Amino acid sequence: MTTARGKFITIEGLDGCGKSTQLERLAVALRKQGMNVVTTREPGGTAIGEKVRAVLLDSRTAGLDPWAELALMFAARAQHIAEVIRPALERGKFVLCDRFTDSSEAYQGGGRQLGSEPVLTLHRTLCGGLQPDLTILMDSDVAASVERARRRNQQNPGQQHDENRFESESRAFFERVRGTFLAIAEREPQRVAVVNARRQPDPVSEEILGIVRERLLGSKETPAAGGRR
Ligand code: TMP
Repeated sequence: MTTARGKFITIEGLDGCGKSTQLERLAVALRKQGMNVVTTREPGGTAIGEKVRAVLLDSRTAGLDPWAELALMFAARAQHIAEVIRPALERGKFVLCDRFTDSSEAYQGGGRQLGSEPVLTLHRTLCGGLQPDLTILMDSDVAASVERARRRNQQNPGQQHDENRFESESRAFFERVRGTFLAIAEREPQRVAVVNARRQPDPVSEEILGIVRERLLGSKETPAAGGRR
């Protein structure tokens, strides 16, 4: 017996652009329509990946070489694919992932200036050809987004881990990250949909749900209730 492969949706954007909120809202909307949804994130998503995440995001991780940073992102990703993403897709689930390889291309390829080619080569080698069926790129302004992310971290002094390492990067770094995200969207318009994230959450959620329906569910209408859970 074969089960139809599920759908793999990734959400990308700058730190503080609101993507985690939108991912949760999309999961709620799809579950209401009877879909079986798994939400996850990168770096992380597995016990091993979360350990790697703690190293990568901790601002006390000083002197991490950009190539080592890239390798750690892909180490966490390979584990995540093997342990979570592929098995869920094989069971026909919707996998909603907060960041994926586009973030490596934007942050390490663009921000750290390692270039896209090594990132895409590592993706081909380590990710077994897995591509998202749809990527939502939440486009936002650099200054506003990064300021929001920094405020959020400062307001959460009780959070388990320090996750500030990337947020202390320069404005020029984040401009390169944003530019690379937009270049990916231009290169792969059939996969990547750009959404204006400089708005209140409600219209952004509506637009994202509309894109998912149109591109993955083949309709702008709400699918009939009673689908698989
Ligand atoms: P987030 O979970 O708040 O999105 O934070 C994850 C941070 O890690 C964010 O600053 C982007 C960065 N990152 C990379 O630099 N490369 C990657 O491949 C991924 C997945 C994340």
